[in-house]
Amino acid sequence: MNYRHAYHAGNFADCFKHALLVALLDSFARKPTPYFVLDTHAGAGGYDLDADPAQRTGEADSGIRRLVHSTAPELARYLGLVRELGLYPGSPALIRAVLRENDRLACCELHPEDAAALRRRFRRDPQVEVHERSGWEALTGLLPPKEKRGLVFVDPPFEAKDEFQMLVDGLVRGHERFRNGVFAAWYPIKQMAAVRGFYAGLRSSDLRDIITVELHLRDVTDPDRLNGCGLAVINPPYQFEEQALSIAHAVLDGVGDGEVGAGASVIRLADE
Ligand SMILES: C[S@@+](CC[C@H](N)C(=O)[O-])C[C@H]1O[C@@H](n2cnc3c(N)ncnc32)[C@H](O)[C@@H]1O
Repeated sequence: MNYRHAYHAGNFADCFKHALLVALLDSFARKPTPYFVLDTHAGAGGYDLDADPAQRTGEADSGIRRLVHSTAPELARYLGLVRELGLYPGSPALIRAVLRENDRLACCELHPEDAAALRRRFRRDPQVEVHERSGWEALTGLLPPKEKRGLVFVDPPFEAKDEFQMLVDGLVRGHERFRNGVFAAWYPIKQMAAVRGFYAGLRSSDLRDIITVELHLRDVTDPDRLNGCGLAVINPPYQFEEQALSIAHAVLDGVGDGEVGAGASVIRLADE
């Protein structure tokens, strides 16, 4: 486990995934009944962008430090939370900020230091559980939730060569346990062959009602760069496709450099 999110916090990929995450969470608040969130790869919960790891890569400079000035209405809710929580909140902090009184969050994080940071952050919080265990295994072990509705957010580090396949397998296992859950899984776009393999894996599975939202910073020609990223969503909420597309465009407007091939899209991979 070499990956540490502190080096990447607040980069364009975080902005993209977190703006969509907040929109997904808000859709649950349309109904008064409680919901559950499982964050399978939670990270440390929050990051100091002035600290050494973030300063060393400078990734936030072309991410949240630019986007925070956006006045796009599609990003107002997400950026309001970021300003309130401080630069830069991780997914558990954002999720926690959106939960209502009876909603619950369970976070899994395998790195001992990040898991300890999460435990400190939520130590007196009855609505949040922190598990130092594998998020892949939690897709079976912590599902289905008693609330019977909720979001499963899967944000792996993509360190392993077979992580796209692990993602498909994990989504299938999780969905078998929690069929009406909304699943959102982040993935990097370095080369299109890997991404097309991921689409094919999802399409040939038993999963239905799948969309992917993508943001491309440039043409995908250099496999050593993070040229873009995507969020695959199973069982997307009502009208999420249109909302997600406008959010992705607003993020791109804020962080893009107008490179050739830049764009945002929503693709429906499987119907209901
Ligand atoms: C991309 S980061 C997560 C960022 C976080 N979701 C956020 O948005 O703020 C991936 C995290 O997964 C952790 N990790 C790696 N393998 C894991 C596993 N099998 N189960 C749970 N966490 C894991 C890493 O330590 C890292 O903190």
